[in-house]
Amino acid sequence: MNVPNHIAIILDGNGRWAKAKGMPRSYGHVKGCANLETICDDMKELGVKYLTVYAFSTENWKRSREEVEGLMKLFRNYLKKCIKISEKNKMRVKIIGDVTGFDGDIQRKIAELEEFSKDYTELHFQIALNYGSRDEIVRGMRRMADDISKGRISPADIGEGTIGNYLDTAGIPDPDFMIRTSGEQRLSNFLLWQMAYTEFYFTDVAWPDFNKAELIRAIEKYNERDRRYGGVKEE
Ligand code: IPE
Ligand code: IPE
Ligand code: MG
Repeated sequence: MNVPNHIAIILDGNGRWAKAKGMPRSYGHVKGCANLETICDDMKELGVKYLTVYAFSTENWKRSREEVEGLMKLFRNYLKKCIKISEKNKMRVKIIGDVTGFDGDIQRKIAELEEFSKDYTELHFQIALNYGSRDEIVRGMRRMADDISKGRISPADIGEGTIGNYLDTAGIPDPDFMIRTSGEQRLSNFLLWQMAYTEFYFTDVAWPDFNKAELIRAIEKYNERDRRYGGVKEE
């Protein structure tokens, strides 16, 4: 089995999963968060080098105050716990998204986790928090415009690589494979630039139920894909 170098996951369906069990949405988020640890172990075991998960979008602030507060509490706990997980898995953790949108203590926990794990290379784990691809492009292009106005780069030097270097994912290879759980078939503002040639996989399984067997099933489907990048395959 050819294992993708970089897998991106839109972990969707926590709320519906909980509702189906007669439980509040927050219960789904707790279970979904617990599943993150398991999936990191599975990815490492399978030899995946990069994993990027979409955990909170720039649009998710629109949810009820109660739900957003519950998620913030979950992030606080998880970011702390993630130090141990990164040590166990020798995994480097990086947050992508606009972290300045979070309370100061969350920003400090993020900085601490990134600093703690910065030399690990077994698995590169990116968590998208307050992430929106369009917002990422806007923030990146503002920095680029600033560098141009200060004469640090000239417009003639701008290539595709330059743009990539101004995104939150600078230095991280593009995803080979994107999985979205729970049935929706859209990107919801996730990695628009980076996923130009990524293979997509949609499953009805809700995120809290997405386990190693489901992951292997998905990777098997990836193996059936014929990646061409615009070329023509020899007959
Ligand atoms: C994904 O589950 C987690 C977040 C977006 C925070 P949802 O909360 O979107 O669950 P559904 O899609 O409403 O079931
Ligand atoms: C996308 O899921 C964002 C995350 C998984 C964090 P949503 O549930 O927010 O997306 P929509 O609203 O269904 O497009
Ligand atoms: Mg959803």
